[in-house]
Amino acid sequence: MCGIVAYNGGRRAYEVIVNGLKRLEYRGYDSAGVCLVDGDVKVYKQKGKVSDLESFIGSSPTDGSIGIGHTRWATHGEPNNENAHPHTSMNGHFVIIHNGIIENYGHLKTRLERRGYKFNSETDTEILVNLIEYIYLKGNISAEIAVRLALTKVVGAYGIVVICRDEPGTLIAARKGSPLVIGVGDGEYFVASDATPIIEYTNSVIFLNDNDVAIIKKDELSLKTVMNEALEPRIQTLDLDLEEIEKNGFDHFMLKEIYEQPRSITDTFRGRISADHKNIHLGGLYQVLPRLVKAKRIVLIGCGTSWHAALVGEYLLEEFARIPVEVEYASEFRYRNPIINKDDIVIAISQSGETADTLAAIRLAREAGAIVLGICNVVGSSIPRETDAGVYTHAGPEIGVASTKAFTAQVTVLTLMAMLLGRKRDIISQARYEKLISEMMAVPNKIEKILESNEIIREISAIFKDSTNFLYLGRGYFFPVALEGALKLKEISYIHAEGYPAAEMKHGPIALIDEKMPVVVIAPQDSSYEKVVSNVQEVKARKGVVISIVTEGDTIIKSMSDHVIEIPKASEIVESLLAVIPLQLLAYHIALMRGCDVDQPRNLAKSVTVE
Ligand code: F6R
Repeated sequence: MCGIVAYNGGRRAYEVIVNGLKRLEYRGYDSAGVCLVDGDVKVYKQKGKVSDLESFIGSSPTDGSIGIGHTRWATHGEPNNENAHPHTSMNGHFVIIHNGIIENYGHLKTRLERRGYKFNSETDTEILVNLIEYIYLKGNISAEIAVRLALTKVVGAYGIVVICRDEPGTLIAARKGSPLVIGVGDGEYFVASDATPIIEYTNSVIFLNDNDVAIIKKDELSLKTVMNEALEPRIQTLDLDLEEIEKNGFDHFMLKEIYEQPRSITDTFRGRISADHKNIHLGGLYQVLPRLVKAKRIVLIGCGTSWHAALVGEYLLEEFARIPVEVEYASEFRYRNPIINKDDIVIAISQSGETADTLAAIRLAREAGAIVLGICNVVGSSIPRETDAGVYTHAGPEIGVASTKAFTAQVTVLTLMAMLLGRKRDIISQARYEKLISEMMAVPNKIEKILESNEIIREISAIFKDSTNFLYLGRGYFFPVALEGALKLKEISYIHAEGYPAAEMKHGPIALIDEKMPVVVIAPQDSSYEKVVSNVQEVKARKGVVISIVTEGDTIIKSMSDHVIEIPKASEIVESLLAVIPLQLLAYHIALMRGCDVDQPRNLAKSVTVE
């Protein structure tokens, strides 16, 4: 949440920053702003998107080659011009952009007010920039020392970049809890919340760690801790293409990412299935595998869509590896004094690798002595760095705020894990293992086939675009898929939707069903098919409108449904990967037809780095 871009080098900073902010806009789009240094220090900010800021500024306001920019996801204070970043200190010495939350801002504010400070915004960030200025003026010290001292007084999370009017050639960047990446070019440096704005200029990057402070001049970078201990910058090379973060002819990132799934799933299992297709290797788990195989309990944690992937994981791991699994919302786990045993394996699932609740849950589990693994998409993000081991999903950058390809990549990793553990624990025979591997490898082609139904799904969407409620029903593996389908619809189309286990419908939600209620039934032919047939009959008996997802060739549910979307026949172990695709497309088309901003739905942000 909140996107940060800063530049110090030989280019026009305005262009670099505005282009970068557009790439980061998925992190927040309540307001945008820039501060540019060109002799003077100029701040421009505007409520709305980066394009609103551009229209407000007009043509490039300066040729200056140093500056900072921000796109905001509001936490403290409503989205308006005053609360937009950058924030300037009362006497104009400092300008700051900030991602995160200063938790003790109330206390700091009172202390500053006693010393005569006045504030223009409702933000915690304005408190921080004034604290820096107060310390700077009082101590008559350098900007860097003032920033570091101020940060020692702060409780909370921050990724900041600061400009001091008195030292205009220097950027000061610091991180605790909110990610920051520095791009290292030839005589130029970039700073951003993630690598997407940097990658078109350089793939040499430094990921800042918590409590790091970077002092960035045009051709010199020094790194130290908040406590002034010198650090050696570790430059890494990123394997990320510009193409991967562009729309490539699709109208929206979400659509592009839905269509990318045959490739992203292949990339996720590529290199992890042996050449003879007889075995699975998860290199990232190599060292912990013996403990994983003997695990008495696995706890899967995540938020939102990643939590839905965890639910699929629970079914898979219990069925194929016969290890007891619990699935927890990270936000609940961290606050409810959970029982964590030393031989538990906790697996955190996260696309961004930065979700604050998931990170906090990881820390809790590690303190309790559990082994903590990560399943993450963003390379170099905080979760992979804070876990004992893990597996990357190689889905590539996911820019659309609604998660699509990250979900299927997470489920792919969990499926591989379930198969591997099932084999290692001798729950499944080698012959079955090989059969399951071949099922996994067939998934990308089957998804290609489902994508060919896009037009049918678009036509169904047109019929239901004005509905105000939706019910999604599924059993077994398709229950988490129902939850995920409902989440996709509500987050991008703002239609109220609920996912339910199909059999639970009669314990309450059935009261909602009438001829105005579309019910999406996820009913491919699996072990619970017959039961779902009864559930569909129950819906039809109340005049509900049924949109069903069925296996090709189905006749029974098809004959009872008002609208049908077919998916290819597959083994249960991979069917959730197939069944979710039509639901992603349904949400996409309905949102589009309702005139919603598909890639940047209201009130949401891609990476939730605050509680
Ligand atoms: C929904 C969505 C969110 C995220 C959730 C967790 O489409 O994207 O529900 O799944 O915020 O984010 P990560 O996976 O980055 O931890």
